[in-house]
Amino acid sequence: MIENRTIPERSIDDNVTDLLMANRDASRSDNKTILLTGGAGFIGSHTAVVLLDRGYDVVLLDNFSNSKRDVPARIEKITDRSCICEEVDLTDEAAVATVFNKYDFDAVIHFAGIKSVGESVEKPLEYYDNNLTGTINLLKAMNASDVKNLIFSSSATVYRQDNPVPYYENYPLGATNPYGWTKVIIERILTDMGAVDHAWRVIMLRYFNPIGAHESGLIGEEPQGIPNNLLPYVAKVAAGDLPEIRIFGDDYDTPDGSGVRDYIHVMDLAEGHLVAMEYLRRMIDRDNKKEITEKDACSVASLTENSSATDEKERRLKDLNVRAFNIGTGKGTSVKEIIAAFERACGKELSKAAYPRRPGDLATVYADTSLAEKELGFKARRGIDEMCIDSWRWQQTAR
Ligand code: UD1
Repeated sequence: MIENRTIPERSIDDNVTDLLMANRDASRSDNKTILLTGGAGFIGSHTAVVLLDRGYDVVLLDNFSNSKRDVPARIEKITDRSCICEEVDLTDEAAVATVFNKYDFDAVIHFAGIKSVGESVEKPLEYYDNNLTGTINLLKAMNASDVKNLIFSSSATVYRQDNPVPYYENYPLGATNPYGWTKVIIERILTDMGAVDHAWRVIMLRYFNPIGAHESGLIGEEPQGIPNNLLPYVAKVAAGDLPEIRIFGDDYDTPDGSGVRDYIHVMDLAEGHLVAMEYLRRMIDRDNKKEITEKDACSVASLTENSSATDEKERRLKDLNVRAFNIGTGKGTSVKEIIAAFERACGKELSKAAYPRRPGDLATVYADTSLAEKELGFKARRGIDEMCIDSWRWQQTAR
């Protein structure tokens, strides 16, 4: 007997959902699994959202020293996808190896690290131990499991302070504090490893000043205690948690006297990781096919023309599997302009005053972004107002 079942009518919304799901499936990334160390943190969590939305599977590894345990659930809520998280400290070598035995990773994005400049000056050994030991344990586990595809969270802080702006990727590197040195040293380790073992493919992304939050207001930056960085500080003044914004220096040689930086929306930065991942996959395909791409052929040809620059030629040829890119907007914004944008976002005037310059600060820092634009196809899209609106929304919902 045929059961007389009613088939529910489909609404326009159902059809739209099907279409969206089909599009989403079309862009799925063959279920590539990416390990995100520090994945529950500010930049890691936003990158997880972008990767999951693009169809990658992700495993977060975090010790929750500077992030909350409910972040993976919040990522799942935003993406409607499963977000696995392993609570592991990278300085625990055995635990890191266990994670690599449990999953079959295609690539790793290494965000984990402690990052307070002032604290690093107070506790250099802690910074070198945590950031370098953690990275070395990670690299050993990757080597042992033959996972040699890596994107590393580097920073504009690796550029020596006497470089003129904008900062180009080939500028000399150096740091003024232990935190900065850990980034420089890790870049060195990765470059040396890539030079002897060409199976390693490494992209080092040098972030400028990431701010903003996901538009859902579900994830954002959660600094502990009184923030050191400008945006979280301004947000707390707007929320009434701190009395007044301190403008560190209004006598710099800049248009309005306050310091100028290259602020980038964290979602643009997260999308930078996605394009870097796709670039990494093109590097893998290229190596697998043992083809020299047109771009490589050009760079080899142009290097051969200049026979006097032999060292440079060799270095660049070796470095093709280890690349560094600036991830910024290429535009400078002053402290006073940021405060004005935040006032527009929160709809009120904020209390502020000029203070002496903060030791170690530069007047102006911004990126040259042409290499990332040309090679990765990356260009930040979001402006300062959107960054401040999203920061303010997050500040109002933050726990
Ligand atoms: C800082 C770190 C850098 C790190 C980056 C991460 C230092 C010296 N550098 O960069 O290594 O990679 O954060 O985002 O700490 N300012 C104020 N009032 C404040 C805070 C900041 O006027 O309360 C000014 C600063 O003088 C600077 C600008 O705001 O001109 C940005 O400061 P900040 O957000 O701390 O970032 P950076 O110093 O650029």
